[in-house]
Amino acid sequence: MLINEGIKLGYFILEKSHLNGEVKISGAKNAALPILAASLLVDDGLEIKNVPDLLDVRTMIEILKTIGKSVKFENNIVKISGDVKNKVVPYDLVRKMRASFNVLGPLVLKLGEGQVSLPGGCAIGVRPVDFHIMGLKKLGFEIDIEHGEVFAKKENCEKEVIINLPFPSVGATEHLMTTASLLNGVKVTIENAAMEPEVVDLQNFLNKMGAIITGAGTRKIFIKGVKKLRGGSYTVVPDRIEAGTYALSIAATFGEGLVKNIVPEHLEVLWEVLKETGTDVKIFDKSVYVNGKNKKKAININVQPYPGFPTDLQPQIMVYLSVAHGTSMIIENVFKNRFHHVDELVRMGAKIKVIDGTAIIEGVEKLSGAKVEGTDLRATAALIIAGFMADGVTEVHNDFHVLRGYENIIPKFEGIGGKIKHLR
Ligand code: EPZ
Repeated sequence: MLINEGIKLGYFILEKSHLNGEVKISGAKNAALPILAASLLVDDGLEIKNVPDLLDVRTMIEILKTIGKSVKFENNIVKISGDVKNKVVPYDLVRKMRASFNVLGPLVLKLGEGQVSLPGGCAIGVRPVDFHIMGLKKLGFEIDIEHGEVFAKKENCEKEVIINLPFPSVGATEHLMTTASLLNGVKVTIENAAMEPEVVDLQNFLNKMGAIITGAGTRKIFIKGVKKLRGGSYTVVPDRIEAGTYALSIAATFGEGLVKNIVPEHLEVLWEVLKETGTDVKIFDKSVYVNGKNKKKAININVQPYPGFPTDLQPQIMVYLSVAHGTSMIIENVFKNRFHHVDELVRMGAKIKVIDGTAIIEGVEKLSGAKVEGTDLRATAALIIAGFMADGVTEVHNDFHVLRGYENIIPKFEGIGGKIKHLR
């Protein structure tokens, strides 16, 4: 079956492996995507470096081209130039990736109006964009939703605007901060903002292009809108979720290794959890050493917006705890139903129950290989880790999920001793 761009659907074959060695982390998908969306606000030439070569990045580049930008992507560098010409982003592109909704604000600022499809359903749970729309209306956007399409037009807005987010949404914070940055002469405050490192990276990108934003990384962000953003060059931050995935895979397979080219502070909560559960962790300037030789201990985890335990590492830490000594609990507070990986792990011999957004994981001696299905990006990464931990052979189907968010995943795992094959 073809998924998109003619890519044939495939699967991974895995065998038990002790992962040892060094792995170098790529740029962050969840920083690169909002930065690429924000690039619509810049008329001059832009160069964005350390951009991971992923399906999602290629989808965003396709969207920029559809809108009229000229985009080149080579060696992890995206070069963007030209003007925004087209005001419609077709459903076929938006349905591939929700983050594309964040082009709506910049598009309307550039052309006075715009049309973007309402993102559809998602495996990890209900994901509305009501906070985005509430915020854009506060910024003076007239918005109509018809037939699954969002039509927006720029009207006037107050000189001072306060947007209070009901939940610290990453996407809404990024979308509104980007849009407000080019509302000339308007002062905007986003309260209860998301504090994720990717939000800070977007602020730093916009400020480097001439925006006036402060407070990213705290719950209150202040934006003074400017008339124009200039071109330039920017380097995207390393991917903390990719880093956490490899650190957990090394520790879960009783291996020892170094995760390089990262910002260790972005994952403080993970390093604490690893230490408390019996994994040795040594933190260096741009890398972290993990040694998972010991039997793991159970722990309770509260998944929360940053700086809480990240929801994008929830499936991976669940696999790690599935063979720990004792019973662990994971409370998922960001995407309440993000547990599609549980049934697949139970097929591999794990003992996990889910009750009202909480997973109860009774540690077992070992996992056993089986045919399993990936349901979304991080769930599929977790099943790959389970495949390295399990006795026998594991087949992880629906490879495309993981290709959306992990650059060079096969050579990276092979580089630390992973027995993995990718078949199509
Ligand atoms: C971002 O998604 C990430 N995606 C997700 O990573 C990540 O899981 C999520 O933040 C949380 O950390 C990108 O950055 C591209 P939210 P986003 O808005 O922005 C509710 C991955 O694996 N909400 O912070 O879509 C929502 O339903 C992906 O790389 C509303 O109700 O997440 C959820 O329960 C998966 N209304 C909560 O807020 C809104 O308008 C957090 O969502 C917006 C959000």
